[in-house]
Amino acid sequence: MLDLLIQNANLPDGRTHMSVAVRGGKIVEVARGLQAPAHQTLDAQDQLLCPPFVDAHFHMDATLSYGLPRVNQSGTLLEGIALWGELKPLLTAEALIERALAYCDWAVAKGLLAIRTHVDVCDPRLLAVEALLEVKRQVAPYIDLQLVAFPQDGVLRGPQGPAQHMNNLKRALDLGVDVVGGIPHFERTAEQGALSVKLLCELAAERGLRVDMHCDESDDPLSRHVETLAFETQRLGLHGRVTGSHLTSMHSMDNYYVSKLLPLMAEAQLQVVANPLINITLQGRHDSYPKRRGMTRVPELMAAGINVAFGHDCVMDPWYSLGSGDMLEVAHMGLHVAQMTSQAAMRQCFDAVTVNPAQVMGLNGYGLQAGCFADFVLLQARDPIEALRLRATRLQVYKRGRLIATTPAATSALQLAGRPAHTSWMAP
Ligand code: FE2
Repeated sequence: MLDLLIQNANLPDGRTHMSVAVRGGKIVEVARGLQAPAHQTLDAQDQLLCPPFVDAHFHMDATLSYGLPRVNQSGTLLEGIALWGELKPLLTAEALIERALAYCDWAVAKGLLAIRTHVDVCDPRLLAVEALLEVKRQVAPYIDLQLVAFPQDGVLRGPQGPAQHMNNLKRALDLGVDVVGGIPHFERTAEQGALSVKLLCELAAERGLRVDMHCDESDDPLSRHVETLAFETQRLGLHGRVTGSHLTSMHSMDNYYVSKLLPLMAEAQLQVVANPLINITLQGRHDSYPKRRGMTRVPELMAAGINVAFGHDCVMDPWYSLGSGDMLEVAHMGLHVAQMTSQAAMRQCFDAVTVNPAQVMGLNGYGLQAGCFADFVLLQARDPIEALRLRATRLQVYKRGRLIATTPAATSALQLAGRPAHTSWMAP
């Protein structure tokens, strides 16, 4: 006897009229037109059933703090960092946990069930680290939360010397933080940035951890720390375990240099997270016209065989005043900024908020195949492209085969002169 049988589902790979059978929290079979006794049966009515959305780049310690203690006037990354520095001494664990849990509720409602969040380790109290470890424990039944030890102010740039922030970062890892972070472009010099990449990759290799660095989040075409990140990944044998986040300087780099860089990144099996909502607003602020787009070279990276995900990065914090945990909004922006408008490219953008970030995070049992966890989302859309176009309603969200969130279908009732009353949900 099955626990759950979903019938008439469209899948992201294009298969239609599919059934998904669930027992014991796992998918046991995916086939067309399956008939079997089940405690619960759901007719998906030709709507899209997809694995959960995944956000491989977020800042949960800062989320929902917009306006505290003031708003970012210039809209730049650097004022955001300064503003976060003003807010940090005012943080309390209780308020931070409350805001993070509120965001996790939003995430579940949007079918976002796995999040990699960076957590600032520069505060010697490690207050945010302890708070987010508590949040991770509390949300574990419904969200896979992965933490990155992130030295926001520069790991070698501590006011009491280069060991200060590195020691904090190691203490955070000792407490159970999962991934080694970094921010080489924010160290005092390019040399210090390169040294930080070397030291942090060595630390990850020693401890058997993954790496995810904020890297080259800059409009400076000479910000080339991604080259060092690829080199250290290759040297230390960290293939497939290292992620370069943002990489916005690649947008401004010389094309010849990029033609050398891409194969080096592919050779190291570097993974990439672009954050389209944030970098289209933060970058290019020093330009007059034309203004550069603040996103790395997503289609070119994908064409080079590099795994690229889109991250949300920020929601209502010192860097970004909008956002709602909706990864379809993130992918929608990424699609536009990268001009990924072909049918195949739009499907790649859907992958960039589902399977690609799952690979970045190294999630086990993710997907819609037999043997995977029964975690999925039923969307009010028939395929991934329609889901992107409509930022489709998440009708039902399942975790381990259990329904954990529902949202009513977005349907408008129209009463127009000369026509009978009818409904519309923006699909032809
Ligand atoms: Fe970030």
